[in-house]
Amino acid sequence: MSSSSEISMVLVVSLFVTSLMAMTASAGNFYQDFDITFGGERAKILNGGQLLTLNLDKFSGSGFKSKNEYLFGRIDMQIKLVSGNSAGTVTAYYLSSEGPTHDEIDFEFLGNLSGDPYTLHTNVFSQGKGNREQQFHLWFDPTKAFHTYSIVWNSQRIIFLVDNIPIRVFHNLETIGVPFPKSQPMRIYSSLWNADDWATRGGLVKTDWTQAPFTASYRNFQASTTSTNSLTEQSAWQTQGLDAAGRNRLRWVQQKFMVYNYCSDVKRFPQGLPTECRRSRF
Ligand SMILES: *[C@@H]1O[C@H](CO)[C@@H](O)[C@H](O)[C@H]1NC(C)=O
Repeated sequence: MSSSSEISMVLVVSLFVTSLMAMTASAGNFYQDFDITFGGERAKILNGGQLLTLNLDKFSGSGFKSKNEYLFGRIDMQIKLVSGNSAGTVTAYYLSSEGPTHDEIDFEFLGNLSGDPYTLHTNVFSQGKGNREQQFHLWFDPTKAFHTYSIVWNSQRIIFLVDNIPIRVFHNLETIGVPFPKSQPMRIYSSLWNADDWATRGGLVKTDWTQAPFTASYRNFQASTTSTNSLTEQSAWQTQGLDAAGRNRLRWVQQKFMVYNYCSDVKRFPQGLPTECRRSRF
């Protein structure tokens, strides 16, 4: 092979690799994608950026946030939660914009005594208003291994997924007057902190500091957004909804594992359930 054709081969290969990278874009590196927000040394980036751990001790928790902001996308993170007696601890993982009329999409993991189930708390804020809690127990022990927690956010809906199983869908119901997050870019945030004044059985179970430091671990962050996918025609998440199989799985989770649904809490809303509850069962 002549050296000029070798060079053009190299060029073709590297162009191909570059376009592949653009499509899968931000298969993440924690150094590149995140900043530590508090807790100093309690937040650690390890293995060359492939792993991040948050720690909580008597004095402080810790947290991180994404450098980038996202307006729609699919965001996946693998998390392994605090093991053993995690009662009183809360691991929050969420998307949020800033300001008094901010939007927010929340996963929060409320710890528990050894052997008792974590509660996965979810919420959606639009234009500063939340009060849309749904809580679940999980069908596995989230402290034994990493599991994938995902948010699909497009202009029609927000889908919360656990290991690719939909657990909650928040539909865009602007046509009936429910504000939907669609114009404020959000960052990804996570933190591990002590909330033993409310988290476990309403604050009855206190954090056992003899077990500290408490550790949650993160890996395989992936974000697919419009900008990083400019080379693909259209990405699945942009129109992603639930097909029949997805609806069946959602129903399975909601029937077997949901422990709280604001849409069934008639006592809490004596003036009537929120508008979105009247429209969509899920
Ligand atoms: C802890 O375990 C108890 C007993 O199974 C359960 O009722 C509760 O929902 C669990 N979660 C929290 C956060 O208290």
